[in-house]
Amino acid sequence: MTSDYSRSYQGSLAEPEAFWAEAAQGIHWFREWDQVLDCRDAPAGRWFTGGMLNTCYNAVDRHVAAGRGAQTALIYDSAMTGARSKLSYAELQHDVARFAGVLTELSVAQGDRVIIYMPMVPETVIAMLACARIGAVHSVVFGGFAANELAHRIDDAEPRLIVAASCGLEPGRTVAYKPLLDAAIEQAVHQPDGCIILQREQLRAQLSALDYDWHDLLAKAAPVDCVPVAATDPLYILYTSGTTGQPKGIVRDNGGHAVAMHWSMQAIYGVDAGDVFWAASDVGWVVGHSYIVYGPLLRGCTTVVFEGKPVGTPDAGAFWRVIADHGVSALFTAPTAIRAIRRDDSAGELLGQYDLSSLRTLFLAGERCDPATLAWAGEKLGVPVIDHWWQTESGWAIAGNPMGLGRFEIKPGSAGRAMPGWDVQVLDDVGSPLQAGESGAIVCRLPLPPGSLPALWHDEERFREAYFDRFPGYYQSGDAGYIDADGYLYVMSRTDDVINVAGHRLSTGVIEEILATHPDVAECAVTGIHDELKGQVPMGFVVLKANVSRAEPELIGELQALVREQLGPVAAFRKALVVLRLPKTRSGKILRRTLRNMVDGEAYSIPPTIDDPAILDEIADRLA
Ligand code: COA
Ligand code: AMP
Repeated sequence: MTSDYSRSYQGSLAEPEAFWAEAAQGIHWFREWDQVLDCRDAPAGRWFTGGMLNTCYNAVDRHVAAGRGAQTALIYDSAMTGARSKLSYAELQHDVARFAGVLTELSVAQGDRVIIYMPMVPETVIAMLACARIGAVHSVVFGGFAANELAHRIDDAEPRLIVAASCGLEPGRTVAYKPLLDAAIEQAVHQPDGCIILQREQLRAQLSALDYDWHDLLAKAAPVDCVPVAATDPLYILYTSGTTGQPKGIVRDNGGHAVAMHWSMQAIYGVDAGDVFWAASDVGWVVGHSYIVYGPLLRGCTTVVFEGKPVGTPDAGAFWRVIADHGVSALFTAPTAIRAIRRDDSAGELLGQYDLSSLRTLFLAGERCDPATLAWAGEKLGVPVIDHWWQTESGWAIAGNPMGLGRFEIKPGSAGRAMPGWDVQVLDDVGSPLQAGESGAIVCRLPLPPGSLPALWHDEERFREAYFDRFPGYYQSGDAGYIDADGYLYVMSRTDDVINVAGHRLSTGVIEEILATHPDVAECAVTGIHDELKGQVPMGFVVLKANVSRAEPELIGELQALVREQLGPVAAFRKALVVLRLPKTRSGKILRRTLRNMVDGEAYSIPPTIDDPAILDEIADRLA
């Protein structure tokens, strides 16, 4: 018998236009599209060209119009402050319409960019939806990034306004956002017209002449309605790490994104209107965009906005408490969160104290999930634990195990099978397809399905070069791995200089650029090395300038402070080693993988073309 999954998968590849046109029926269109898929001049394809819709209307207003205004749209639960609140769809509509009025009053127009630098509070979601409502393009910046990173994004996105909070709350410290924001604006060439600041009582900010108080503006605001935008108009820009110091501005369109999000909630996550869906991530990452905000609301679910950590706020039972209190049906988090919980409560005693009967599935993504973590969660929770693979670029799962289309056997270590719309292949270095079980570059045959990136913000050349030039006819994911004989995908590593620290995507190139600014550093290399909790952490190898002699602990302390100040605490840069020279190929390329293998204790073979094999012995001595 053909399963729903097989039927959907085959249908989506054989007749993508028919498949996605049907899925698009789940969305309200002000004007239907002229063409479902247009591949002219667009390597990935453009979806629903000619169609007009509004993402906010679909995520909020239409549920109210359908008589479900009283249903809870958003649950806010802060383990940091103890605050709990709920917003119904009608209340969310009220708040979003008025904040859209605030933006309009401040001259934000369709197509203008708005940067949102906020913690996990409902106002962040309100600000995002308000942008969508008036056709403005939001760009949310994760709160764990430093001023310098925010400045890069300000210069690239050129926002008319910035929406920020006075502070974020991390265990044991209050993060003052306003000084970071001020420093970023001072560094940036582009100057926004002003900033709207949400004052939190834990730390109020001193407002300047160009700052507005969120509550003052809202008190005077008149609601505004949803404007129709083109399906191909950008909904948001989300910056993510690439190989260079300049982050990539992933663009998301309105039409394809709304269709894919709405469809994925049922097909992949097996939830529907009225279910409580919780993505325990941060709105600053793609998981937060897709599955805290847009996916659940487009489907009419209840979403949970959680401020806190899986452990220590107050303990490793924090996640289970939220599930029990709010009747969560599906939880989505990163394996690192489960590793942290398991580390603190391996017997599951805290877990056993809560009624988790509402939970049907646990989804994991963001980094490779080790089989031991998957098995522990499955055993303790007694529900399917599903690893699925995707990226900021894809916007939703490329591979997984679809609860709505019919789940198949879970193979630990694998990220499941390709999801509908994604023709996943593994190629060798010259672009030839590999056999089952053989490792190579993971690619997706073009066109890409709706919801995936149609562009990089104002950088067509980098878009093509980063994703399409290397393997013509395919999207290059940047990940490497293999597909087994049953069609299961195993994502093993990156092919570029991107690392994954506690589910947070970072560029080693950026860290190298920062270390190189230290006055005593002549040269450096950074690699990601294995970490029990965070999956990977960055490790620096630095060569000092001639005639410089420094005590290593003191120097490393300075390097740590530099990375924290320039990139942000989220980099978790702690480890570094001073070495005499770096291993390089004869053409001068630093052998980062060799360095990583040495630290991780894997066997390394000396590459035949290394300029001086003795370097490896020197470094091995330093590591011993
Ligand atoms: N604003 C300011 N600082 C932040 C921040 C934010 N939004 N988020 C993290 N940071 C800081 C932390 O306070 C910490 O600072 P410290 O060095 O002073 O302790 C640093 O950045 C690293 O944070 P984090 O990566 O969260 O590590 P942690 O050691 O505090 O906690 C885990 C470890 C595993 C509990 C945590 O990483 C986690 O919950 N991960 C889940 C990741 C996730 O949801 N990923 C999204 C993809 S699904
Ligand atoms: P991000 O763009 O921040 O979502 O990070 C995407 C990257 O995280 C991918 O390219 C992978 O390297 C990694 N990743 C995400 N999910 C998985 C997974 N399930 N298994 C292995 N790696 C993953």
